[in-house]
Amino acid sequence: MSQITILIGAQWGDEGKGKWIDYLGQDHDIIARFQGGNNAGHTLYVDGEKVVLHQIPSGIFHPGKIAALLSGVVINPAELCKEIQMIAEKVQLNPENFLISEKSHVITPYHIRADQLSESSLNRPIGTTKRGIGPAYTDRSQRSGLLMSEFCNPESRKQWIQARRTESPLFRQSWEEDQNLWKEFESSATMLAPFICPVEARIRRQLSEGTRLLLEGAQGTLLDLSHGTYPYVTSSHTIASGATTSLGIDPRRVQRIIGIAKAYVTRVGEGPFPTELHDEDGRLLSRQGNEFGATTNRPRRCGWLDTVAMRYAAEVNGFDEIFMNKLDILSAFDKISIATHYHHPQLGDINTFPEDSRILSGCVPVFRSLPGWKQELKTEGTFADLPQEAQNFIREAEQLCQVPITMAGVGSGRNDYLKLK
Ligand code: IMP
Ligand code: MG
Repeated sequence: MSQITILIGAQWGDEGKGKWIDYLGQDHDIIARFQGGNNAGHTLYVDGEKVVLHQIPSGIFHPGKIAALLSGVVINPAELCKEIQMIAEKVQLNPENFLISEKSHVITPYHIRADQLSESSLNRPIGTTKRGIGPAYTDRSQRSGLLMSEFCNPESRKQWIQARRTESPLFRQSWEEDQNLWKEFESSATMLAPFICPVEARIRRQLSEGTRLLLEGAQGTLLDLSHGTYPYVTSSHTIASGATTSLGIDPRRVQRIIGIAKAYVTRVGEGPFPTELHDEDGRLLSRQGNEFGATTNRPRRCGWLDTVAMRYAAEVNGFDEIFMNKLDILSAFDKISIATHYHHPQLGDINTFPEDSRILSGCVPVFRSLPGWKQELKTEGTFADLPQEAQNFIREAEQLCQVPITMAGVGSGRNDYLKLK
């Protein structure tokens, strides 16, 4: 049992983190999101019903748990209010079970407009979710952002809006043309105010009393602002060290770092993706895996498991183990491929993930092909309950990723998993 666990997406997001946060939530007292905003979409099934959460941490459905949003998060207040109302039948949020950091930053209608504008005017769009994430983090780095604590104080909120209206023509335009959104924005402050508190200090104090904490990442390692495939990344630090920065804690106190990966790879938005498939196999992955964005409903690009990228993700995060999701999706295939390394026309064979996106774009994956199992997988049990071919796939992937694969997700249900170790 670990006191502080960090859960990270090992690929480009959409690895199915929601399912495992829900699972691990049982053994933790506090579940905290440490970065990102409502660009994320965590899908989970509660009592057989599908729930998609964008901002509230996915562990909230276990009774008696505390969910928290830490300083590194950006919040769309009106959307958060809607989410709180959406889950109200399943769980009532109150200042005891839901905490919002006073240091988290606010996404305003202006930020959303700025995101949409830059996506439509860039020669090279990033393919963002257009939720205002990048511009909100830009304001934060620029030191002109709006803190959640200021947002909930009517006087400081007004001052901030007034100052920005004076400074920025685009802000003025948004203020004039997005009045409905601004009204909704301002009125959500009353509902959110009771949740605002010095979360980080409170968690640090509770840790010293033995509380167990799960730090929940959004997006994935390859979308990290520093270590992802820049510029095709999100604007926050998605890797494990992002969690300790957001909380403000001695990184050495973290005992367990788990990487969540799919048994194949998907990516939404633009940017290099070496194992991407444009053939019937890719379409089959998309169909079987129902690979459409939980936030934007965009079709996800699909490809085979990339162990070069996985080794890199394991290195930058320090994964102790990997939970591998959606193994059942591969049941449809006669043959399954795994990328073992890349080949670059000028640089030759490459075993380590190129951190320069231009080099990465020139890489062609080299695959190892394995026989498929072509049968339904059992939805509970252990490694021994997998067909021989699926066992081989896991062994091979584990050896190539150089990290133990300890769990396998084999269905969308809350309990559809195999304990491999
Ligand atoms: P942004 O986070 O909206 O600025 O988008 C930047 C990049 O991150 C785009 O490629 C998005 O598709 C991607 N992205 C953002 N959030 C998610 C997510 O939750 N899952 C997968 N991709 C995401
Ligand atoms: Mg998602």
